Amino acid sequence: MTVVHSAVGSVEPVIVVHGGAGTVSPELREAAPAGAKKAAELGQRVLLDGGSCEDAVIAAIRSMEDDPTFNAGRGSCMTRDGEFEVDAALMRSIDLRAGAIAGVKNLRDGILVAQKVMNETRHCLLAGDAAEAFARAHGVGSFGRDEVWTEKAQRRFDDATAGKTARDNRADTVGAVALDRHGHMASGGSTGGVLLKLPGRVGDTPMIGSGLYAHPQLGASAATGVGEAIMTYVMSYEVLRRARDGELQAHAEALCAEVQRATRAAVGLICVSPDGEIGIAHGSQHMSWAHARGDSPVAFGLTWPPAAD
Ligand code: GLY
Repeated sequence: MTVVHSAVGSVEPVIVVHGGAGTVSPELREAAPAGAKKAAELGQRVLLDGGSCEDAVIAAIRSMEDDPTFNAGRGSCMTRDGEFEVDAALMRSIDLRAGAIAGVKNLRDGILVAQKVMNETRHCLLAGDAAEAFARAHGVGSFGRDEVWTEKAQRRFDDATAGKTARDNRADTVGAVALDRHGHMASGGSTGGVLLKLPGRVGDTPMIGSGLYAHPQLGASAATGVGEAIMTYVMSYEVLRRARDGELQAHAEALCAEVQRATRAAVGLICVSPDGEIGIAHGSQHMSWAHARGDSPVAFGLTWPPAAD
């Protein structure tokens, strides 16, 4: 089902995006917030034109999947075997529908396949070769090693396997949450997962409640960082549950700090409440982010709170 709105709503729309919690390498410290800003601007344009939160999230995530700066789509990191296996998911508050894919090889635009799962099946999550077959049958998805391979990913793989760099646990997933003029919310994420992951390993990104959540009374959220930590704390649902009476930002900060302290893993969250409150937090050195409310200029940065000039 595609949700179609007939009347112009009256809620001030909001978009929030992230480009991943972790340590951003020095050569990408300008490109990461700039890429997040571009993604938020695209999502904001959709919302201001009267588009749905679902379409705004898709626009923002597609932009970051195409940007080699990020570990998603083109730019995804490699498994231990030098392959690409991507995860992605989308969820909307209006009917609690969600769609996700896991462990799909050489896929550039996982968020579009996740949307197809949500809108064209009665399931939430399709995995592996069967998810690829589903995508091909529905004429969606750009497949091929050339669609996802980048010099950056090859260099990281070569350095990590040669022992030149630590087998770091960077998991710079991309994500977005949006509130549209009708007061509906959506969240989404897309990722290549963690560098040198075992073939078949699936992270939090396609796990409803862990990597993302969207609920009409609670809000929408998306997580980033090391999936194993995020899943055990069910972070995306948990932050909204804790903030059901307000103080979304404070709860996002407290949950990220708690998980990072307990697991030593980099984690981050972006959220929006039904009344438009924003939450952005991370327990990591960096997390590129961007947000916009109404037609205000997009704010963006590499850490939260934003570094003082
Ligand atoms: N958060 C992305 C992953 O762990 O796969």
